[in-house]
Amino acid sequence: MRLLITGGAGFIGANYIRYVLSVHPDYHVINLDKLTYSGNLGNLKGIDGYPNYTFVRGDICDRNVLDGIKFDAIVNFAAESHVDRSILDASPFLQTNIMGTHNLLETAKQRDCIFLHVSTDEVYGTIEKESFNENSPLRPNSPYAASKAASDMLVRSYVETHKIKAIITRCSNNYGPYQFPEKLIPLVIINALNMKPIPVYGDGMNVRDWIYVTDHCKGIDTVLHNGKNGEVYNIGSRNERANIELIKLLLVKVAGRINLNENEFAGLINFVRDRKGHDRRYAIDSSKIEQQLGWKPEISFDEGISKTVDWYISNKQWWQRIISGEYMQYYNTQYAERLKK
Ligand code: NAD
Ligand code: TYD
Repeated sequence: MRLLITGGAGFIGANYIRYVLSVHPDYHVINLDKLTYSGNLGNLKGIDGYPNYTFVRGDICDRNVLDGIKFDAIVNFAAESHVDRSILDASPFLQTNIMGTHNLLETAKQRDCIFLHVSTDEVYGTIEKESFNENSPLRPNSPYAASKAASDMLVRSYVETHKIKAIITRCSNNYGPYQFPEKLIPLVIINALNMKPIPVYGDGMNVRDWIYVTDHCKGIDTVLHNGKNGEVYNIGSRNERANIELIKLLLVKVAGRINLNENEFAGLINFVRDRKGHDRRYAIDSSKIEQQLGWKPEISFDEGISKTVDWYISNKQWWQRIISGEYMQYYNTQYAERLKK
């Protein structure tokens, strides 16, 4: 199988490429990535020399680049992925997440290949109690979530209208190695290691369901090989945590790992102005993929968090390169804004 993986230099895409090549060593992976601010070829160190791995720098919006690549299936990770950035400027989200997905769908229509679209639980919006299943209505609240919901709808329409072979997965919040430092978990670990304040949005009681990234990768691979055409599969971990609870746990783990008294970190917690339109709680029901395809998460929350803290402590060079670059300007401007009344 020749797999076209888009966005494979990002957090989840890179983890997926590592996973796929370990379980399907006979596959050929073509990684198509534009290398935006969050794309990093360092995420694929070690893999880049494999004879069955090819990197192509390109944009999923560009039809010509796709015309030059041979593949049997597409797994689409490429996206603008950060909610805060979509609040500052939604245009790149509409371009990549909607127009880019449309371009890939047109290619899938011509080639008669399988299209797996990696989506998010954020398309369902916020829920106070219980959880969303695959038939729940889409009520996205951020421009990021709206762009992902639009792409999901396009995928559905191409299945119905053009009879392409496509499947959608909707996963909860991922964490693990190679996650870009703008997202909550790496941000807390890195700021703690640098003794910098940790911005907690609002009252810190927003809830997310956290899944270790390799569990998500296994779910995607299960769906790619055994999923039913035209279906949607939720992938979640039932690890719901309020942000403040998660942040405190991370600080205990980091302190323990570097032999520091956790009280040293207490002063870093800084409640700041809330995110606009901040979804209170995400929760999805994954019983469909569990019952129909036999997938289930394998990494407990405690194990996953420990592995993640260890990874960031052992891979300082990886994140120091990022925080010494243009990312820091974005971060400092955002942080200063959040301190304003
Ligand atoms: P990421 O920001 O770390 O990686 C995105 C990758 O896509 C980067 O390598 C970037 O260079 C690339 N890219 C962006 N625009 C492109 C374009 N026009 N053409 C080609 N490549 C482009 O994001 P991530 O966290 O790895 O998320 C990957 C996918 O998973 C996204 O579709 C996201 O919506 C989805 N998802 C993420 C989470 C999460 O918690 N991170 C949860 C559920 C679903
Ligand atoms: P994030 O990692 O951006 O993921 P998402 O918004 O896609 O769920 O944020 C996770 C939660 O953490 C979310 O409720 C917003 C909150 N948050 C903070 O409190 N402080 C921060 O600095 C960041 C980045 C997020």
